This record gives sequence, C-alpha cells and structure tokens, in this order.
Amino acid sequence: MKDHRVLSGMRPTGQMHLGHYHGVLKNWIELQNEYDSYYFVADWHAFTTHYADNIDLESNVSDMVVDWLAAGINPNTSTIFVQSKVPEHAELHLLLSMSTPISWLERVPSFKDQQEKLKTKDLSTYGFLGYPLLQSADILIYKAGLVPVGEDQVSHVEFTREVARRFNYIYGRKSGFEEKAELAVNKMGKKQAKLYRKLRKAYQETGDDESLVKARALLGEQQNITLGDRERLLGYIEGLGKIILIEPKALLTKASKMPGLDGQKMSKSYENMISLRDDPEVITQKIKKMPTDPARIKLSDPGDPNKCPVWQMHQIYSTQDTLDWVVEGCTKAKIGCIECKGPVIDSVISELGPMQERIAKYQSNPNLIQEIIFDGSERARSVAKNTLEEVRDAMGITY
Ligand code: TRP
Ligand code: SF4
Repeated sequence: MKDHRVLSGMRPTGQMHLGHYHGVLKNWIELQNEYDSYYFVADWHAFTTHYADNIDLESNVSDMVVDWLAAGINPNTSTIFVQSKVPEHAELHLLLSMSTPISWLERVPSFKDQQEKLKTKDLSTYGFLGYPLLQSADILIYKAGLVPVGEDQVSHVEFTREVARRFNYIYGRKSGFEEKAELAVNKMGKKQAKLYRKLRKAYQETGDDESLVKARALLGEQQNITLGDRERLLGYIEGLGKIILIEPKALLTKASKMPGLDGQKMSKSYENMISLRDDPEVITQKIKKMPTDPARIKLSDPGDPNKCPVWQMHQIYSTQDTLDWVVEGCTKAKIGCIECKGPVIDSVISELGPMQERIAKYQSNPNLIQEIIFDGSERARSVAKNTLEEVRDAMGITY
C-alpha cells in the first residue's frame, strides 16, 4: 500500500529514550516498509511552549535525526525532514487560519490541559492556541492518509479532519463545480460513468457506506481522468466540493509498555529515563537503583512481580525461561532483586550497544546528517509545493 502516505513528527525538546524507541520509533520503522513514510522534526512546534527557553535547537534537531537513523529509520525509504526547512507549512497554516473558528481551537483538550500543567509558563499566546492548526498544516500539506500518534495527539488529528472538511466545503465548490464534475463523469467511458452515477445516487439517497467505498475504488482505477477530475469526483460522490485536502486518520500507537525507572511513564520531565545514549555504566547504575516491590525489604521476604517495575522490563526483554525464573525466585524469595535485575541490565546494554555504535558513526559525520536532512526536506518540499499550488488555486490566489 505504498500509495497510502504516513506522516508523523516529534518536537526536538530533549533526548530520545527507551520509551520513545519501544513506543514510537519501532512503530515508525515497521510502517516505513509498508507505506510512503514522512517523518519530521517539528522544530517550530517547540516554540509554542518553549518560546522563552534558551534551548539549543540546532543540536537537538541533529541529535534527534541521528537517533532516528541509528534506531533504524531508513533515509532511502522514508522521507526525513525538518519542519522549518519546508516553509510551505507556514503558508498553509496561515491560509487555514482564515477559516478556522477560534472556538474549535479552544475546544481541543490539550489547550486547557497544557495550560494547567505548565502553570509556570505564559501559554496565553497566539502560537500556542494555533498549535493544533500548525499540526494540521503539517499533515494536510502531504495529503497524508495515516498519522501514527499516541493517545494525547488523537484529538489533533480529529481536529485536522474538521479543518480539511471545512476547507473543501468552502473552497471546493466554486462556480462551475457541478458542470465540471459531470463532464469528468463522461470522460470515464459509458459503462464506468453509469456505474459511478448509480453508486453516487445510492450513497446520496441511502448513505450506504458500501456504495461510497465502491465509488472511491472505481475512481482509483480510472486511468483516463486527470488528478483534478479525480478530486472533483471524489467530492461529488458525497455532495461535497472538490476534495483538495484529504482527511487523515489517526493510527493509534499502542502505549509503550516500557516503565520509567520509578514505575511511572518514562519521560524526560519525570527524570526517570534511560537515554538511548546512556553508556553501560550509567545503564547499570540506573537499573540497580530502580525501586522494586516495596514489600521486599529483606532477601527472605517474598515479593510480587506485579508490584514491581523491573518485572515490566522483564516482560519486554526476557525469554519465557527467564520470566519463570523471576516469578519463582521472587515469590519464593529465592533470588535477590539485584540478581533479578541482571538479565534486564544485560538486555538493555546489548540492545543499545549496536545503536550507540551507529550513533557514534553518524556523529563523526555531521555532513552526512546535514545532507540527509537537506535531501529529505527537498523531497518533502516538492510534495508540499504541489498541494499549496492546489490550495492557492482553490482560493483564487494564482496571480
Ligand atoms: N504535536 C506532536 C507531538 O507533540 C508533534 C507533531 C507536530 C506532529 N506536527 C505533527 C505529529 C504532525 C504528527 C503529525 O507529539
Ligand atoms: Fe522485582 Fe525481581 Fe525484586 Fe521481584 S525479585 S521485587 S520482580 S526486582
């Protein structure tokens, strides 16, 4: 399904850790083999909350790309780029802002949540309110069909769908739309045109989804109609205007099972992470210090793995034999917690070892990283420019 485009982004606000690797990056790596994938560093988005913080964006951006590459994102199959290197996102954001009601933005759950959470920051800014709309522009400009994101971002994708629908409704029905659509139907040839009309009628009269799916598939097979006609006919089925911007779907990323060192979610803000760049010594120390089942004070106290974050790590890393050994040893007080942590320490070190070698290799070649970012951004840009061209055309700003 290479024709389905996948797009996702991350803000360059800190180091990549094991939670990112197991939750997000492994998922991206799988998707890149199946879909035309676009992954980008959302550097402008970092300013929406960190506008007054002096973060070193330059090194954060390149570190992030290095970590992605070392983890296995392939720059030959995926398009890796940086948001600010594709200024077309900003123009689309501006144009979409004209028709986006403020109330829609105020209603996005993250708007109030984040303001509550980050009380020390003044987030009553224009940019922060517009955060989800900039994200919509990121997605819509690539006509991405699928957006892999965590739970906290799903509402942003839903919002994006509404923005796209409203845009298509307002700007996709310029005068002559119906006439042009009818002409396009005739171009499909008699038999196909008849089928299209039948399916369109069925959908409009009964709202029967199957007819909609069939009609879309029919359009997908047409060789002799232009892209513009296809977009027109897609919208015409539903009685909408020309579909200029595609409504994306969120592809919910399963929450990472990786616990933080304290058993909470692994996150930079809780200072409970193992960074992809931690060396074996640091990894060992961090895991050795992890709290375990609080009921196990002495070695002779039996424990309950379900009350222990180390057990969660075992479930990610260990074989069935080791898992059995943990349960037996823990519940019957046959092993100590330090002993129990041994296999986890070994697994994390051997997982990160090869990755860190690749990180070092990329770090010693900053030109290569520059080049990968440059090439990816150029590739992204050529797609973005095409969409923007259509958007300008629909809005009548082609002079
Ligand atoms: N808001 C996302 C986050 O904080 C980052 C992001 C920006 C994004 N633009 C995007 C994710 C477009 C998916 C698609 O995680
Ligand atoms: Fe946790 Fe292992 Fe200690 Fe049991 S023995 S409490 S599972 S670290």
